[in-house]
Amino acid sequence: MKLIKSIIIIIFASIIFLIMTCINTYPERANSFEILGYNNEDINLLKNKFTDAEIRFIINNRIMKRKLFPYLELSYFSLTEIHAYESIRVKQNVSHLTAVNLKNHPHIMDNFYLKINNALNLQQNLILVNKNYRLSADYIPDNLVYTKDIPLLIDDKNRYYLQIDVYNALKALFTEALKHNLTLILSNGYRSYEKQAKIYEFYKINALNADAFSARAGHSEHQTGLALDLTSESASYLLTKEFENTKEGIFIKDHAHYFGFIVRYPKDKSHLTGYDYEPWHLRYVGIEVAKIIFEKKLTLEEYLLYYTEMPLT
Ligand code: DAL
Ligand code: ZN
Repeated sequence: MKLIKSIIIIIFASIIFLIMTCINTYPERANSFEILGYNNEDINLLKNKFTDAEIRFIINNRIMKRKLFPYLELSYFSLTEIHAYESIRVKQNVSHLTAVNLKNHPHIMDNFYLKINNALNLQQNLILVNKNYRLSADYIPDNLVYTKDIPLLIDDKNRYYLQIDVYNALKALFTEALKHNLTLILSNGYRSYEKQAKIYEFYKINALNADAFSARAGHSEHQTGLALDLTSESASYLLTKEFENTKEGIFIKDHAHYFGFIVRYPKDKSHLTGYDYEPWHLRYVGIEVAKIIFEKKLTLEEYLLYYTEMPLT
């Protein structure tokens, strides 16, 4: 009899406890949201955007509105990584956009050839190919055309293909140079994966520190059809740092961005690009982007980190 009485009391107490818990759940949550700085409108927005588990994550981790909301517009933001983004943002004093990019692409400018991913933004002007972002062996860009109407260094048809927009921009650049009585010469355009492999192997065997000036196969921008090398008579028709001090080199440094090109491996940025200064190697990015990169003195990697939402690899 005593046992039955005890069981009844326990069951009754459990029912009361359950009822109390249910009654309390919602006000408690609402109260938690309020403490974290969210109003009713914000709560509705969160409910539309996140699952119940994610909402619990926000509350349990006490993620304040002012911390969370600046990230909500970013496509490659992941809620569970918010502490990592915040740590990067505060330590490196960067924007929310850049913090997400840096978390998703931590080795875009270091650990060369040790943290390799697939190239980003394929088939667009902002394709990222560098020592840690690689093109596949069978990647061939669309829209390659033979660059027939500009001065070419040698008579080798295989060497002078570029994407059509790049070719048109380059023709305009050469025409502008002529107005300054300067004759530019195209030395290299598109290169296939196989050709780049041969070039790199040659330098690896015959030169010191090939990695400072030659890309491994799959890692050369020349495979994108967006990059090219220029020379001139004044630079003895070579790809040489002396090009920088020739009239043609000075013209390129000051005018290439008006036509959508950047000097891709700048002088003081070898620690970020992994390459020695190459005043002759231009990369097409389009006029708007080239202007920003020129004016702010950035590399392409820095531009992507600071100004774009970089897709995941
Ligand atoms: N010289 C540049 C880095 C290349 O090989 O693509
Ligand atoms: Zn080049």
